[in-house]
Amino acid sequence: MDSLKQQLTTLIARELQELSGNQPVNPNVITASKPEFGDYQANGVMALAKALKRNPRELGAELVERLEATKNPLLGNIELAGPGFVNLHLSSEALLQDANDILDSPTLLISKTDSPQTIIVDYSSPNLAKEMHVGHLRGTIIGDCLARVLERQGHQVIRQNHVGDWGTQFGMLITFMRESDANADVALADLEVFYREAKARFDSDAEFATRARESVVKLQSGDADTLSAWQSFIDTSLAHCQAVYDKLNVTLGHDDLKPESFYNPQLKSIVDRLESEGLLTNSDGARCVFLDEFIGKDEKPLPVIIQKSDGGYLYATTDLAAVEYRSHTVNADRSLYVVDARQSLHFQQVFAVARAAKFSSETISLEHISYGTMMGKDGKPFKTRSGDTVKLTDLLDEAVERAGALVGSKNPELEEDEINAIAKAVGIASVKYADLSKNRTSDNVFDWDAMLSFEGNTAPYLMYAYARIKTLLSKQAEETELSTLRIDTKANLSREEKTLLVKTLQLSEVIEAVAQDGYPNTLSNYLYELSAVFMRFYENCPIKGVDEDVRTLRLGLCLLTAEALKQGLELLGIDTLERM
Ligand code: ARG
Repeated sequence: MDSLKQQLTTLIARELQELSGNQPVNPNVITASKPEFGDYQANGVMALAKALKRNPRELGAELVERLEATKNPLLGNIELAGPGFVNLHLSSEALLQDANDILDSPTLLISKTDSPQTIIVDYSSPNLAKEMHVGHLRGTIIGDCLARVLERQGHQVIRQNHVGDWGTQFGMLITFMRESDANADVALADLEVFYREAKARFDSDAEFATRARESVVKLQSGDADTLSAWQSFIDTSLAHCQAVYDKLNVTLGHDDLKPESFYNPQLKSIVDRLESEGLLTNSDGARCVFLDEFIGKDEKPLPVIIQKSDGGYLYATTDLAAVEYRSHTVNADRSLYVVDARQSLHFQQVFAVARAAKFSSETISLEHISYGTMMGKDGKPFKTRSGDTVKLTDLLDEAVERAGALVGSKNPELEEDEINAIAKAVGIASVKYADLSKNRTSDNVFDWDAMLSFEGNTAPYLMYAYARIKTLLSKQAEETELSTLRIDTKANLSREEKTLLVKTLQLSEVIEAVAQDGYPNTLSNYLYELSAVFMRFYENCPIKGVDEDVRTLRLGLCLLTAEALKQGLELLGIDTLERM
C-alpha cells in the first residue's frame, strides 16, 4: 500500500502527463494548507500551464474532469480553486478501508519501498582514544533514527561505525598503559582521566615521549607485542562505547564496526591511484590534491592532504579508501555520513576527490547528513560546571536520575521498581527526543528542564499521550474485543474524526520524507501534531453514551492513533510504556 501522497502523486502525474503531450510533470501534491481546501492539493497545474502557454484555470478544469473520470476510489470531491489549485477531498470509505487493513496488520501503517536499496549509514564513529562525550550524542541518535527508518522501509541498511582507532595518540596511550602500575581494566576505567594523565606525562617527560613515538613506529610496522597492547586498549575503549549504546537504546553493535584501521592495507594503493590519475602535487614535502572548486580565503587553492612528508596518511586518505570500499565492494546505492557540520568541507573535498579519481561508482549517492553543535544554556558548547567535556555515560545516568525524581513526585503512590523502570525509559527518551525534535542543521541548546517537561513537544508528553490512549483502550476492552475490531466503512465521519483518520494514515509519507532528506524532526513534529489532532478528537467525540457503530469507529481511531504513535516513536529509537 503506497502512502496517500504517493498514490495521489502517481495518479495525478499520469493525468498531467497526458495533458502535457507526454512530458513528465511534477504534480506537486501537498497536504492541504487549510481544512477548507480538502485533504490534499495538487499545485502542479500552474507550472504546466506556463510551460504549455495555456490558461491555468482551463487546464485545471481539464485535470479535474480527467480525475473524476478515473473513478479512483480514493478520490471524493475534487475542486478547482484560485488560479489553478486542485483541491482533493479523500473518500471516507477508502480511508476507512485502509484503516481496517491496518487494524488487521499494523505493519501496513508504513509502506515498504518498491525499490529497495543498499544504504550505508556511517554514524556515531567516535575516536577511541577518548571516552564518548556529549558531542557524540547527536550523530549517534540521528544516525540510529535514519538507520531504523530506512530499514523499516525495506532497504538493506549497513551500519558503519567508522571509529578512530589509529594514529599517533595511540602510541602515547599504549605506552602509558604498559607502564602503569594498575592492570589495564583499572587504569582504563575512566578513559578521560587516563588520556589526560598520559598527555601530561607525554608533555612533561621527554623520554616517555620518545618511547611513545617509538611505539607508533612499531605499531605501524606490525610489531606483535605493540599490536596486542593496542588491541587491548581498543577493546576496552569499545566496551565503553557499547555500554553507552546499550544505555541509549541505540542499535549499534560489534558487527557494525568498520574502524579506520580496517582501511590501512588500502591506503598505499589509494595514493598510487591518485598519482597515476595525475591528481597529486607535492607541497612542502606533503602529497596533496588541489581541485579548482576549493579556493581558500586568500584566493589560493586549498589542498586536500593525502600523505604527510613523514609518510603518514590522513583522515581524508582513510575516507577515500572508505568511499572506494562502499562503492565497489559493498556496491551501496547511498552512503550517508551522519557527522558534525564542522566537517562539511572535509566531506565536500573527499567526495570531490573520490569522484575525480573514480573511487566512487557512477551511481552511489554520497550524502553528508550534517548537524550542529550541542550548546549549553550560556550559548557556548555544552560543558560541565568546571569546564570539562561531559561524558555521555554520566549524562545519561543523570537523565535517568532526574526523570526518576520527577516521576516519583508526580506519582508518589507508585512502587519503587515501577518508578525506576519509567525513569529509565523517560530519561533516555527525553535526551533523545530533545535532539530529534530540532532541525539537525541548527545548533541545539541542552536544557534539562525543557526536555523533561510533560508539556510541549517533548518525549514525556508524547509517551504520556500514548500511555493515556492505551489506558483508555484497556478500560474499553472489557466490553469490546479490540483485537478484532473493524470499522464500518460506510460510516459518516465528523470533521475531527476524518482529520484524525487522515493524520494517522500520513505516518507513511512522513517516513518517506525522513528517508529521503534525513531530517528526523519531520517525524517528531508529525507525532506532536498527531497528538494534538487526537486531543481535539477526544474532546469532541465521546466514546461513552453513543451508538455502538459510532463507538466502534472511535475506538478504531484510538487504536490507529496509538499504533501510529508507537511505531513513530520506535523509529525515533524511543520505547513506549503502556502505563505511566
Ligand atoms: N571519528 C571521526 C570524529 O570523531 C568521525 C568519523 C566520521 N565518519 C567518517 N567516515 N569520516 O570526528
